[in-house]
Amino acid sequence: MANRRLAPAAEQPESFAFTPENAAWAKGQIAKYPEGRQASAVIPLLWRAQEQNGGWLPQKAIEAVAAELGMPAIRVLEVATFYTMFALEPVGRYWIQVCGTVPCDSCGARELKGMLHQRLGPSGHVDPTGTFSWLEVECLGACCNAPMVQINQDYYEDLTPELLGKLMDDLAAGRPVKVGSQIDRNASEPLGGPNTLTDPTLYDGSRVGAWRKRFEESRKDEGAQAGKSEAASSEQQAATNPKPARPDAGRAVETTSSDAPAQRVTAGEAPVKGGDRAEAADQEHSTAGKSEAPGSQPKAIKDLEPAGAEAGSQSSLPRDVPPPQPVASGEEEPSEPAPNAESLKLPKGRSKPKPPAKPERT
Ligand code: FES
Repeated sequence: MANRRLAPAAEQPESFAFTPENAAWAKGQIAKYPEGRQASAVIPLLWRAQEQNGGWLPQKAIEAVAAELGMPAIRVLEVATFYTMFALEPVGRYWIQVCGTVPCDSCGARELKGMLHQRLGPSGHVDPTGTFSWLEVECLGACCNAPMVQINQDYYEDLTPELLGKLMDDLAAGRPVKVGSQIDRNASEPLGGPNTLTDPTLYDGSRVGAWRKRFEESRKDEGAQAGKSEAASSEQQAATNPKPARPDAGRAVETTSSDAPAQRVTAGEAPVKGGDRAEAADQEHSTAGKSEAPGSQPKAIKDLEPAGAEAGSQSSLPRDVPPPQPVASGEEEPSEPAPNAESLKLPKGRSKPKPPAKPERT
């Protein structure tokens, strides 16, 4: 990186002033910023002053820009010395800025600098013909195509000392030159051409809706596969078990208790309460082997009802009469229970309880 100093006094002009056109242009640039923020126009004005002065910034131009913007001259000098885009010394007709930052340095910038030093002399000096001058600068933002140089306003990339020498020869001779990469590289693509995002469907629109087509095709394949499997399973079952399956085959079998209260009601018998069941069990245990006494009658439901039922504190339904059990498929529907009113001996004033509605079978 070269020193950023003003040119020697012997090279400095006596004065500097914008041309009327550039002064009007400068006024327009300053007007872009709000009142009190005119200093924001410092870089455009310095750039225009450099162009007007033949490609470099004399001290008088820096002071003129500072006066135009109402800034201290030292602050404008700070800007001019910070950015290498501002040349502080006279330059040749072609000003070569060589990037010396790491990527370019790793790719051959040192060889370029060596060639320039050999051909033009030290950096910051104009060659004897006034055609070229050169300067090492920091990254110019074209690292992908390193090493590179900027000559006036254009970039020249993928350089070798030989390519840069030929380029300088062409410029000096006024021959047309190719801007950008000096090898067969398109923009900043990898050497040898692109190797990513090469699928043409990314760009021709055919990818739009492709996922839906794939989805529909895969669903179609799955359906066909499932149909084949089902058919094969049926054929295999038919071969091993020729007996046709019942319509309700595979359904859960519902069984009824052999001593369910509903069955007793259906048979015209009084339901058995839990306490009586325990008592009977005790008696059965104690009189095992004895036959029931002749003429004995089952207990009437009135005798089995708790006292609270008479008082209406309990449900009007016999407590031990549960709702009818659902009938399993294939079994005969039981007939409507016909409770024996005599045997049930319902209390006076109490109507015969209606059995709960049967659940609908679906
Ligand atoms: S390092 Fe040279 S252009 Fe970025």
